[in-house]
Order: sequence, then structure tokens, then C-alpha cells
Amino acid sequence: MEYAVRSGNLAKSRAQCIIVPIYEPLEMSAPAQALNQASGGQINKILKRGDLKPKAGQTLLLHDVANINAQRVLLVNMGPREGLDSANHITAIGKLIGAIKSLAVKNVLICLADIPCKDRTLQWHIERLIEHLEAGIYQYQDMKSKPDATPQTLTQVNFYIDRTSGDSVKAGIGRGTALADGMRFAKDIANTPGNICTPTYLAEKATKLCKGNKALSVSILEEEDMQKMSMGAFLAVCQGSEQPGKLITIHYRGTDVSSRPHVLVGKGITFDTGGISLKSPPAMHEMIYDMCGAASVLGTMSTIADQKLPINVIGVLAAAENMPSGKATRPGDIVKTMSGQTVEILNTDAEGRLVLCDALTYIGQFKPASVIDIATLTGAIVTALGSVATGLFSNDDDLAQQISDAGEHVFDRVWRLPIWEEYQPRLASAFADMANVGGREAGSITAACYLARFVTEYRWAHLDIAGTAYQGSGPNKGYSGRPIALLSQYLYNQI
Ligand code: BES
Ligand code: MN
Ligand code: ZN
Repeated sequence: MEYAVRSGNLAKSRAQCIIVPIYEPLEMSAPAQALNQASGGQINKILKRGDLKPKAGQTLLLHDVANINAQRVLLVNMGPREGLDSANHITAIGKLIGAIKSLAVKNVLICLADIPCKDRTLQWHIERLIEHLEAGIYQYQDMKSKPDATPQTLTQVNFYIDRTSGDSVKAGIGRGTALADGMRFAKDIANTPGNICTPTYLAEKATKLCKGNKALSVSILEEEDMQKMSMGAFLAVCQGSEQPGKLITIHYRGTDVSSRPHVLVGKGITFDTGGISLKSPPAMHEMIYDMCGAASVLGTMSTIADQKLPINVIGVLAAAENMPSGKATRPGDIVKTMSGQTVEILNTDAEGRLVLCDALTYIGQFKPASVIDIATLTGAIVTALGSVATGLFSNDDDLAQQISDAGEHVFDRVWRLPIWEEYQPRLASAFADMANVGGREAGSITAACYLARFVTEYRWAHLDIAGTAYQGSGPNKGYSGRPIALLSQYLYNQI
């Protein structure tokens, strides 16, 4: 997609479709007024007929409006001008994109210059528009023998603004396209089925991402390396699979080596059968998405490298396949983690925390400025928060607040849950230092409490994205791209 900026006489602009905002109760924006004037009051007349319904996100398409060069004018109801919040705004953008998709247009001219949205800048508008537009037209077609019969025609998006705001629009286009590209990259990987997307495949994608960019480099620990480092928990997950596990580390050097890195750790279970504690069949196929944490790390690394952020960031993918076999870990097996602590694996389906705990020990050597792990960790978080909010857990109030704020800003929201000491006894084991499961109650919290036992002296947060990362079936099946927008924003805020 190409993005550019236009200004000047709107009625004279050549575009296949001009998109203009209208506010509730049917109040014209400045560009709508300009078109209305040029057309001798036609827009106003049509609005008075009441076909543009009084609800944020409603659209009305007009053809061949008098004295307007553009073929079409699309009116979009943005909701009330006063107090327009980002929720309304994102809804309206979503509907607007739905309307664009249904048209056979190659280019559109979007007039956003005077959209007021609480505490949001023009740059924010442009970023969100690009993010949601590209998400709206994304399709995963790599596995189709023939591409879809109705290809997307849109190739050019122009933003109509007044000349003075050129810089913030450029910044918005830069960040928006970097984010959209990172998300597309991550979606293509996450949507790839488990027979192709293996830990080795993730390692190849990470290597390819780093190729040709001097700021990026990758190092990969093989199972033999993990053996030497005594990563008994990680290896316990790997051992049932024919596919070798990998611990993949991507280094992004945006500034001096002495600047402590922010570290992202993604759960990369490329398929989670549950292992010997086998999952039931109906939704098992969804477990190709058990590597969405790792995908979000890849997407974020791509986004920030593209934007040349002047900070250091390390992305770690804990990649393995969880399979049952003659070599697989048995429920009741006890293993020693890299930290030296022993774990009784009572349920082999609680494998995410097993790969993550050794990864959390491993990254201690980087002296992180902050650590965020991202994981489709528990079904319990889906019950608690559904697909709206990602679960947030942290040992640091300031970090938790920063993550919350970043999520709020880009509308990729999180909700914090406690990891109080009182939950810890649930992980008690008769024979080992701890068990890997804590029973039915507070399943997401005990999972986070388990991870907390492996966190060393760094600021840490855990994001449980099991509910927000993907839709397992239906027309919108696929990886959502969350929380790449949040993570990128968090990192932008560190500059
Ligand atoms: N990958 C699953 C969590 C999951 C469940 C993600 C549903 C997305 C949708 C994880 O490995 C798992 O199996 N967790 C178990 C933990 C339990 C055994 C303590 C779960 O949530 O049931
Ligand atoms: Mn599992
Ligand atoms: Zn899993």
C-alpha cells in the first residue's frame, strides 16, 4: 500500500473516493462543509434525509456529487464531536475500512485533519488508520492453490490535511506502516500451520529478519546447548517431539552497548497437543496459535528495527513442539531447571511455563532494563477476560502502569491481575521444589506465580494473551497481531 499526503482544493481533488467525517448530531466537519459548498448544498440536503444513521461507524456512499471531481464521497459518522474517545474512534475506523473494502476503488482520499479525539494527535490518527486498514484487508492465502477470486483493488491511500501538519503526518505514516508491516510479518508466521511452522521455521524467519540489517543479529541455542546450560524444563517439553526445540535470541542494537536492553520473551509452542496429558480433539487444531507470543516478538522486533529506535532491545523466542510419544515427559516426572530449582511436572499440558522459566533464567545475563514475556499461557485467562483485554501480571507497579498506558494509547488493552504471595502455596509439591500446576482455582494467576519464581533481579511483566491473540475459527480466523501495537508503543515510550 502506498500512502501520501494531499492538500489544496478538496472539491477539485482527483480521487476515486473521498472519505469525510460527520459528527453526531449530523454536524459537518470542515472538509464536509467544503464539499457541501462546492456542490451547492447537496451534502447537507442528503444528510437531512436521514440516511446516515445516528451512530458512530455508520457510513453513506454518494456517487457523482455535483461539482466534485472525485467519483464518490463516503460520509462516515464518527459519533459526537465533543468527547470523541478512542473506543468510538476505532469502531468508526473499523466500519470505514469495511466500507472501503466493499468498493472497487484503487485509491481513496481520507480527510482527517480536523478530527478531534481526546488527547490524540493527528499522528495517532494516521497510525491507527494505517494499522486498522492493513489489518482489515489482510488475508492469509499462502496455502491456497489459487488466490481468492476477489482480490483487493486498493493500492493508494492519500491523507488530506492542511499544509502545516505535514511533519506529524509523515511521522504517523512512518510508524503506521512499520507497525502494519511488523503485524503482517507476524500474522503470516502465526497463521502457518504446525506441519510447516516448526521451531526450525521460527529460527529461519528470525534469521531472515536479521539479514541485511546491521542493527539486528540472531543467535540460536540448540537442544545440545540447552543441555549444557541445564535447561531441564525447556528440554522436558522438547523431548516428546521429532522437531528439535530452539531458544532463539534476536539482538537489536539501536544505541550504545552500555545502554541496558529491554527484553521481550515469547512463548513459541508451534503446536500444543498437551503432550501425554493430551488435549481433547474439538479445539486442538487451534493450538497452532500457541506460538503467538513468539510471533508478537518477531513482529515487534521488525517494527522497531524499521523505525530505527535509539534503544537496545532483545527478543527471545522459546520455541518447541509439545507432543506425546514414547520419549515424551510423563506426568509425575521431575526435572531440574536452569535456575537449579526442581519441578514436578504434574500436567504436561502446562508446558508454556516450562519453556518460559528457563528462558527467564537465561536472559538474566543481559542485565535487562525491563522484561516482558508474552504467552498464550492459560485457558483460564480466556474465561476471565475474554478476547477484549490481555492479562497483565507484574512485580513492578511502575512497569505495569507503563504497559497499561501504552495499551490504552494504541487501544490494545490489558488488565492487571495480582500475583500475591498468598497464591504461591498452590504450587507446592511433595517431592520437588514446586509443581508446574496449581489446581483449578485462579489458573492464570498461579501460572504467573510459577513464572515469578524464576524472575531474578529485573523488572518483569507477563502478558497472558490466550484470549486476545487469535480467533480459532470463523470468518476472522487467525492471529490478531496483538500485542504488537502495545509492545511497540511501550518501546517508543522508552526513548
Ligand atoms: N496453550 C495452552 C493455553 C491455551 C488454552 C491457549 C486455550 C489458548 C486457548 C496451555 O499450554 C495450556 O494447555 N494450559 C493449560 C494449563 C493447565 C494444564 C494448568 C490450561 O489452560 O488448560
Ligand atoms: Mn498446553
Ligand atoms: Zn500451550
